[in-house]
Amino acid sequence: MTTAASHVLDRVLVLEMVRVTEAAAIAASTLVGRGDEKAADAAAVEAMRAALNSLDMNGTVVIGEGERDEAPMLYIGEKVGTGHGPAIDIALDPLEGTTICAKAGPNSLAVLAIAEAGGLLNAPDVYMDKIAVGPGYSPDVIDLDRTPTQNVHAIAAAKGVEPNEIIACVLDRPRHEALIAELRQIGCGVVLIGDGDVAGVIATTDPDTTIDVYMGSGGAPEGVLACAALRCVGGQFKGRLLFRNDAERSRARKWGIEDLDRQYDLKDLAKGDCIFAATGVTDGSLLDGVKRQGKRMTTESVVMRASSGTVRWVKGEHRL
Ligand code: FBP
Repeated sequence: MTTAASHVLDRVLVLEMVRVTEAAAIAASTLVGRGDEKAADAAAVEAMRAALNSLDMNGTVVIGEGERDEAPMLYIGEKVGTGHGPAIDIALDPLEGTTICAKAGPNSLAVLAIAEAGGLLNAPDVYMDKIAVGPGYSPDVIDLDRTPTQNVHAIAAAKGVEPNEIIACVLDRPRHEALIAELRQIGCGVVLIGDGDVAGVIATTDPDTTIDVYMGSGGAPEGVLACAALRCVGGQFKGRLLFRNDAERSRARKWGIEDLDRQYDLKDLAKGDCIFAATGVTDGSLLDGVKRQGKRMTTESVVMRASSGTVRWVKGEHRL
């Protein structure tokens, strides 16, 4: 008997997902500010894998630490869980913002998204051009086929403000020089982030951040993770894969992507029911980081589900 689609992601899994991201964040937190990206990532990966493998599910990693020959754990295609229970696709980033963690900067997260099998795009590890806004706009207010100026004008008109009142979040990279110059030319405020564009995209959904739009290129896998979150809280996202060479193009084809120039919408990247969970490793706009006080440790997490739109903020207290 097949399980009804809406019941594939069991409600119990919602809270289990927080345990998984908590485990990864706690493991990475011991290495915050220690200047060792690789060690922090490895600790988070190992902890997330162990937590996932304790769950009753038949999980497949569709976005993970890399391809099998380059990543010993949580590689793309790896089966996780006990093998009993629903067939689930998993996109994960045990430590999103490895450099942030190593430098004790803001917005380093342990992140996970799950969906019914086939629900998440098998995005290759290439760059993706991205633009995102929070909820409340009419459909297609943003479009990657328009210039940044045209997008800002459309957002400003929809919001009923002047273009120079729009605040954009952009990764601080030399490749974004022209984008940043164009945005400043219009008079926009540009919030430059050092790393961590999953948090950057999600920031558009929180009026407290004052960020209206996320723009620029970052990792395609991070794009899928961010889309899973937007599917739950609302918002719009457009993405287009960017290829630097033929090896990247053939990697995309290997994962079943035929139209390499396609502009993806939110639901092309994360469709059907999905759950998004994140725990803060370091303090950030979305979540507080892991704190150690004496023999106790606190974590802050968020877990959300697309089908219900429920968003749960979970404060954890853990014994050391
Ligand atoms: P890592 O956690 O893998 O270091 O990724 C951090 C990150 O800033 C992502 O949030 C972003 O999508 C990507 O790197 C951008 O890539 P690049 O640093 O090459 O510009």
